[in-house]
Amino acid sequence: MTKQEKQALIDLANEARRRAYVPYSNYPVGAALRTKSGRLYTGVNIENAAYPQTMCAERVAIFKAVSEGETEFEVISVVTKNGGSPCGGCRQVMAEFGLDILVLLANENGQLVKEMTVSELLPEAFTPKHLVRDN
Ligand code: THU
Repeated sequence: MTKQEKQALIDLANEARRRAYVPYSNYPVGAALRTKSGRLYTGVNIENAAYPQTMCAERVAIFKAVSEGETEFEVISVVTKNGGSPCGGCRQVMAEFGLDILVLLANENGQLVKEMTVSELLPEAFTPKHLVRDN
């Protein structure tokens, strides 16, 4: 993946971030997911007056993709004010679809702060292979 491609995915997430629904935390998050087939899906965090019903930006992007029939992902960018890291729940959802997915973390200026794979973000992940029965 080229530097330009990474920047394009970060810019897409940063644009989406403007549509975050965050009346409670005022912490908008934008995500942009690229599938192995080259399709793009964005996500934003969507909060709720019943706070626990909030959904993170990463999961919105992944669920949008899966609901459109896409389950093979190459890279996801996440933009927050300060380059914040995905929560544990989002790491687990990413791991479901591949430990090799690249994760790009960027700040509100669209600067790449950190990049790593899902396996680095969630070592020893519980994955679908653990559910395979041997009888
Ligand atoms: N949030 C995300 O969208 N992604 C993460 O990985 C971390 C947290 C959201 C949830 C909530 O709307 C706000 O950020 C503050 O926690």
